[in-house]
Amino acid sequence: MKRILVAVCALGAVLAIPTACFFFWPASIEAVQATQAQPTGSALVTKGEYLTKAADCAACHTAAGGEPFAGGRAFKLPFGTIYSTNITPDRETGIGQWSDAEFVRAVHKGIGKNGEDLYPAFPYTAYALLSTDDVLAVRAYLSTVRPVSLRKIDNTLVFPFNQRYSLRAWKLLFVPTRPWEPSAAHDATWNRGAYLAEALAHCGECHTPRNLMFATESGRKFAGAVIDGWKAYNITSDSETGIGAWSNDEIEQYLSSGHAPARGSAGGGMGEAIDLSLRHLSSEDIAALARYLRTIPAQRSELTVQIDHDPATLNGATAWSPGPDRDESIGFQIFASACASCHGWDGTGQQTDHAELLGSRAVNDPSGANLVRAVLEGVKIGSPRGDNLMPSFAAAYSDAEIAAVSNYVIGHFGGKQGNVTAADVRASRD
Ligand code: HEC
Ligand code: HEC
Ligand code: HEC
Repeated sequence: MKRILVAVCALGAVLAIPTACFFFWPASIEAVQATQAQPTGSALVTKGEYLTKAADCAACHTAAGGEPFAGGRAFKLPFGTIYSTNITPDRETGIGQWSDAEFVRAVHKGIGKNGEDLYPAFPYTAYALLSTDDVLAVRAYLSTVRPVSLRKIDNTLVFPFNQRYSLRAWKLLFVPTRPWEPSAAHDATWNRGAYLAEALAHCGECHTPRNLMFATESGRKFAGAVIDGWKAYNITSDSETGIGAWSNDEIEQYLSSGHAPARGSAGGGMGEAIDLSLRHLSSEDIAALARYLRTIPAQRSELTVQIDHDPATLNGATAWSPGPDRDESIGFQIFASACASCHGWDGTGQQTDHAELLGSRAVNDPSGANLVRAVLEGVKIGSPRGDNLMPSFAAAYSDAEIAAVSNYVIGHFGGKQGNVTAADVRASRD
C-alpha cells in the first residue's frame, strides 16, 4: 500500500500538486511509555500542574469568562478564525476518551484524535521539543481538572486554508522531529533555561519574526515581532534595540511579576503569559530563563522604541500635578479624569508600582501601538498582594478620544510627538 502511495506521490510532485497526496497519507501513531524517572500518583499530578502552567495551556484553552481548559477562545487570522478545543477530561466534548499515545501525538506532532492535522495556532512547533515524560505529566494533571461539557466551535477558515491535509508539507518543514537534547557545551542552568524558553514557555511564538510561510525565522531568534496588534519587542542582548542594557535582576523581576522599575509593565499576551504562567515558576526557573536569554546572539531590530528616561515634559511634575506641561486639550482632560488617579502625573505610578509609566516602551512609541491596545483591552496581572489591574476603556471612549489621550501620554511621559490617529484606534479595535 505504502509503495503505491509513494509512487503516486512522486507522480504528484512531478505534476506540482505535492500537498494533495497527504490527503491520503495515513497518520501513524506510536506507543508511548514514561521512563523510570517519572513519578507516580499525586507527585505526577503535581509535576504535571507545574508543567501545564509553564506551557501556559490555559491561556489559549480558556475563553474570556469561560471555564478553565474548556476551549472556545478565538484566534483571528487573515483567512478566517480558529477556535481552541476543550481539553478537560469530559468524555463527549473534551479529551476524556483520548489514549495517552493520542495525546502525546497531538502535543508533539499537531495531530488530532482522528488523525487530522491541527493548525499551528496550537504551538506544537515548540511543544515538539518537550520530553515524552513531561507531556505525559501534563496529561495526568489535565485528567484531574473538572470535566466541562462544551463542544468545539467550528473554525471558519476559507478555502484552501480549511484543507487540513495541506498542513502536512508545512509540518515536515517546520516541526522538530525529536525532543530537546541538552547541550554538553553548557551547564544545567542554561539547559533548563533553554528548555523553558524554547519548549515550554514558547517565547519565540511571539518574539521571533515569521517568514512568508508563517514559520518562525530561526536566524532571527527573539528579534521581535507583532502579535495581535502588540509589539512583542526584541528580547535579544542587543543593548540599543533589545534588552542588553537590562540587568539580570530586571529581567527576572519583569518575568516573575510583570514589572521592573523603570522598564515598564507587561500587557497583552505578555501580561497574560506572566499572569497565568511565568509568575508561578520557581525562582530557579526564572533565573535559568534569564540566563538563557542573555546568551541569545544580539540582533538589531527595527521593531524597537527608544526610551527617554528623563523627558523635559516631566520637569516640575509631581504625583498630583502635571507641572508646566498642562494644556486644556481633550487628551489632557481624559488623562486627568480617567488615568491620573492610578498613574500619577510624574510617571512614578500611584496605585501600585506596576502603574509606573516612566521608562516603559509603550509610552515612548510615537505610533502608540501597545499603549492603544492596553487602553482598549485593559491589563490584569495577579500578585501575592492582589491584582494589578487596569480596566478596559474600549467602551468608555471614542476612537478620537483614545487617540487624543494616547498622544498626550506619549508627549508627557515619553517627551515625544505622538502620531496616533482615530483610524489607528479603529484598526486596533478590529
Ligand atoms: C497559543 C495557543 C495555544 C496554546 C498555548 C495551547 N494550545 Fe492547544 N490548541 C490551540 C488551538 C487553536 C487548537 C485547535 C487547533 C485546530 O483546530 O486545528 C488546539 C488544539 C489542541 C488539542 C487538540 C484537541 C482536539 O480536540 O483536537 C490538544 C490535545 C491541545 N490543544 C492540547 C494543548 C496542551 C496540552 C497545551 C499546553 C501544553 C496547549 N494545547 C497549549 C491553541 C493552543
Ligand atoms: C503570547 C505572546 C508572548 C509570549 C508567549 C511571550 N511574550 Fe514577551 N512580550 C510579548 C509582548 C506583546 C510584549 C510587550 C508587552 C508590553 O509592551 O506591555 C512582550 C514583552 C517582553 C519583554 C519586555 C521587553 C521590553 O523591551 O520592554 C520581555 C523581557 C519579554 N517579553 C520576554 C519574554 C520571554 C522570556 C518569554 C518566554 C518565557 C516571552 N516573553 C513570551 C508577547 C509575548
Ligand atoms: C485602576 C487603575 C488604572 C487606571 C484608571 C488606568 N491604568 Fe493604566 N495601568 C494600571 C496598571 C496597574 C498598569 C500595569 C498593569 C499590570 O502590570 O498589570 C497599567 C499599565 C498601563 C500602561 C502600560 C501598558 C504596557 O503594556 O506597557 C499604559 C500605557 C497605561 N496603563 C495607560 C493608561 C491610560 C492612558 C489610562 C487612562 C485612559 C490608564 N492607563 C488608566 C492602572 C491603571
